[in-house]
Amino acid sequence: MISLRLIAAETARVLTGVVLIVSGLLKAIDPVGSALKIGEYLAPILDERWAWSGMISLTLSFVLCAGEFLLGAFLLMGIYRKLSARLSVAFFAGMTFISLYSLFADPVSDCGCFGDAIHLTHFETLLKNIVLLPLSYLVLRDARSLRHLFSRRERWLVAVLAVVGIVVFMVQNYRHLPLVDFRPYRVGTDLRAEMAREDSTLQAGLLATTRYIYERGGQEQAFTPEAIPDSSWRFVKVQEDATLAKYKAKYDFTPMDSLGNPFAEELLADPGVTLLLLAPHWNRASEGSIDEISELYTQSLSMGYRFYGLTASSAQEIADWRYLTGASYPMLLMDATPIRTMIRAYPGLVVLRGGKIIDKRSFTDFPTVEEVSRYLHHLREPNYIAPAPSLACTYLLLAWGALLILGFLRFWARKLHLTLYLKKRIHYPYKRKRSMRKNIVAGNWKMNKTLQEGTAFISELKSALSVKTLHCDVIIGAPFIHLATVASLAEGSPIGIAAENCADKAEGAYTGEVSAAMVASTGARYVILGHSERRAYYGEDNAILTEKVRLALANGLTPIFCIGEVKEEREAGKHFQVVEEQLAGTVFSLSPEDFSKVILAYEPVWAIGTGLTASSAQAQEIHAHIRQLIVKKYGETIADDCTILYGGSCNASNAEELFAQPDVDGGLIGGASLSVEKFLPIIEAFH
Ligand code: 13P
Repeated sequence: MISLRLIAAETARVLTGVVLIVSGLLKAIDPVGSALKIGEYLAPILDERWAWSGMISLTLSFVLCAGEFLLGAFLLMGIYRKLSARLSVAFFAGMTFISLYSLFADPVSDCGCFGDAIHLTHFETLLKNIVLLPLSYLVLRDARSLRHLFSRRERWLVAVLAVVGIVVFMVQNYRHLPLVDFRPYRVGTDLRAEMAREDSTLQAGLLATTRYIYERGGQEQAFTPEAIPDSSWRFVKVQEDATLAKYKAKYDFTPMDSLGNPFAEELLADPGVTLLLLAPHWNRASEGSIDEISELYTQSLSMGYRFYGLTASSAQEIADWRYLTGASYPMLLMDATPIRTMIRAYPGLVVLRGGKIIDKRSFTDFPTVEEVSRYLHHLREPNYIAPAPSLACTYLLLAWGALLILGFLRFWARKLHLTLYLKKRIHYPYKRKRSMRKNIVAGNWKMNKTLQEGTAFISELKSALSVKTLHCDVIIGAPFIHLATVASLAEGSPIGIAAENCADKAEGAYTGEVSAAMVASTGARYVILGHSERRAYYGEDNAILTEKVRLALANGLTPIFCIGEVKEEREAGKHFQVVEEQLAGTVFSLSPEDFSKVILAYEPVWAIGTGLTASSAQAQEIHAHIRQLIVKKYGETIADDCTILYGGSCNASNAEELFAQPDVDGGLIGGASLSVEKFLPIIEAFH
């Protein structure tokens, strides 16, 4: 059953993931804008005049935008869940601190969380972070239980795609202009009309809110501008709306000519075409398109267009630029901020016709010398407005979306057991009744862990499993001395406890031995028998093992019976024969009823604790062979229902592939069962 806690974690994951993706993408659309915002935050420590300060802000902008997007994407897809959850908690904690600082110190006018697309006040930003910080903690608390769309083997590929995707997207937006322009001055804006509208709104606002204070006979009274009183009143002061006084024009287009005269009206009232080449400071402008600029200027003049440079540069900077590039176009001056708002390129081109912006280009997209003439002729067409920028980035985003959808489809296909069905069709000759055959992940601690370490492990595993939807049984094989304690600790949890051995005698004078009845009395329900280490170091042969299995069954314990060949036998190609003999000499002597209670574990001795694993194909081959032997001995139904585990260096990175084999029903895990961190992902391999 899915717990409320898990639902909370899943919901929090979706909310934080979506916010991170949206805010990351909106910022990544305009990396230069984000760098400018970072520069504003860093102004107290980073002097804008330093040559490398812009580079630092831009690098931070790339890291922040990409990082935010990637965190969100990883959370939503469920890859690198723990790391992503940790980083998002750190991220939101940092952002909460910054928004608190902004609220009190007011270092910037707008926080810039969502680029220029959505503007929040400092208080709204703080509120957003105060909500998201605990949500990200909920995600972190149950990070390992979150559903994932891609397997461990696939996730690196998805991660690489995500990183490449967002970086390419940002570089595109940086080299050209932002894919979507959220600022004023976008292409198509009738600048003249917008500025006039803004002006009249401001005038109307002033008219509506300004009050003239007069006094008569010691009494003060406020009058609207339309109702000024007669001369019997004495004027005291003008009272203006404080918010209007702070009003900042959206269209702060205020160019001046070289003598300092306003030039906006001159530019906007002209019905013809005007080309403005913008750069806040010429000494930082790229010299990569000087030939194109010269050609644009020369041909513009010959076509009767006007061409100006628009800059906030000093006279010296302008002189240097002229010297360097041979520029002879007239220069207009304007504050650097509106120039940066108008265009993110350095230099960039803004084309006006009749006061309307009909094109904007980064220097990387200027028409080549050969294209200039055709381009300028286009500008003359009465309805010409430059087309939107290239869709290359959009395709990239679409590819991304497709990847996500693919992940979702796979997830649901798995949910509906479609993959199982297909696998069965493709590889599996039998009709499988999965309901009878159990998937099991069993740990075998061997001679490891003190009692305290054992109980700590069980408590940790128990709480980790309590928020999971399990798709397999979980068993822990523990030393005798731990059994009673860990069995009572595991009560009420999905963890079953196994002994690692039991005596081949029922009871009596066998000093140091532990009988199956004693094991059962501790609350353990399973017993591992026939392990290769017992066969090799304690001389347990087929006869002893058969007796142990019989006693275990008689005492209500489920034997997990191990078989498997040594290296030399595998190399000699005798592995099929070896497992056949091991089965024939032990559990195949059981009645069908008793045999159907046994769990088998194929453990190639050469793979135990060596780091060598049987490949999934090798495991499937021999598991299928074992099942065939059972078919021959007990018939198809019992063979179909028999759980056969794989053991031998099974771990988080190979479990999913091994367990995906139609005849591998889980694992018997040694080394990787000693820590919950390593054991849990193996359990999760069944999803
Ligand atoms: P390892 O997983 O450490 O190879 O051990 C396997 C095993 O012997 C389980 O019983």
